Amino acid sequence: MRSAAHTLLHPLDRLAAAWAEHFGLGAPRAFFAPGRVNLLGAHLDYNEGFVLPMAVDRGTYVLAAPRADRRVRLHSLDRQPTVEADLDRLVLEASHGWANYPKGVLAAFGRDVPGLDLLYCGDLPIGAGLSSSASILVATATAANAFAARERSRIELVHLCRGAEVNFVGVKCGIMDHYASAFGREGHVLHLDCRSITHREVPFDGSKATIVVCDTTKRRENSDGRFNDRVRECGEAVARLRELGVPAGALRDVDRATLERYRGRIPEIPYRRALHVVSEIERTIRGVQALDAGDFEAFGAWLRDSHESSRVHYEVSSRELDALVEAVHGAPGAYGARLTGAGFGGCCVAVVRPDAVEAFRAVVAEKYEAATGLQPRLHPFHPSRGATAL
Ligand code: GLA
Repeated sequence: MRSAAHTLLHPLDRLAAAWAEHFGLGAPRAFFAPGRVNLLGAHLDYNEGFVLPMAVDRGTYVLAAPRADRRVRLHSLDRQPTVEADLDRLVLEASHGWANYPKGVLAAFGRDVPGLDLLYCGDLPIGAGLSSSASILVATATAANAFAARERSRIELVHLCRGAEVNFVGVKCGIMDHYASAFGREGHVLHLDCRSITHREVPFDGSKATIVVCDTTKRRENSDGRFNDRVRECGEAVARLRELGVPAGALRDVDRATLERYRGRIPEIPYRRALHVVSEIERTIRGVQALDAGDFEAFGAWLRDSHESSRVHYEVSSRELDALVEAVHGAPGAYGARLTGAGFGGCCVAVVRPDAVEAFRAVVAEKYEAATGLQPRLHPFHPSRGATAL
């Protein structure tokens, strides 16, 4: 049993204290990969649009040491189960839960890495839409890379991690989470083009605005299946538009006027998903312009619109997320808020005037509790660096 005092220790101290108990003697190396918050661009990455994530200063820490054999041992201080497996025969096993993520990464490295002992500890809420799973993937890849026969570049690691999530774990996610975890930059958000897979660092002026992640405390349920449904529905919209003669490789290639022209000839659900995507692409472009201009009033308004579109057209909100976004919009100093991550529960991201954060927190907590009976958790976050050896 962990004592309450123990859980207050920094994850690295907890890992250092636990290593010998699990893996005996040896001098492991330490690595870290952050989670992320996406400010704007909901469900645009797998539609080849633009997104606006930032890395946060919380994520997954891992201690790693090579082994003389081809075994891999995966133990987490926060999750079950512990898994031991043959590095050359790694397959998805439902009962392995979280450990399928590092297994997928190690399978992708293949013969390039030695057997490894890996000990994990994180400080992100799990299943809250802050990419705790991408941070496990990227932390594992950063660690494995340090012991690999051939060192991979950061962008290669991003593609490897996404491949592991899509092909090994089976979630048809886009590239945003792994990218933000790998490329995060202190004091900046990333304007990531998910077609060219390149980004521009956009300074985020912390003296003018604070990012407060507001956790509904309702965890996503069965979200992977519903997430994959959205990916499929967008694919259906593209396929139908192509049948109608629109030269679209992805929804990125469709503008609003084109979509409206064919509205009656696209089935209702794919049409609504597409409407969200094409309008969210516009919002993200305009939102970045607002951020570049330091206009947080305008930026917040795009966040509000984004939430509305995610709720009505994309249907990835939840009762609690709506209540929390509404509570934010009635609170002092709030520029705007929207659900973040995949949705279906988890967190919303709010942009708040720094001098109003304390009053903001009190009002949001009161309004959200009155609406749902739940107490939200509110975390101010600063844009932070990406994955690193420690
Ligand atoms: C999840 C996925 C991302 C992205 C978001 C929605 O976090 O992993 O790739 O699609 O949802 O924007």
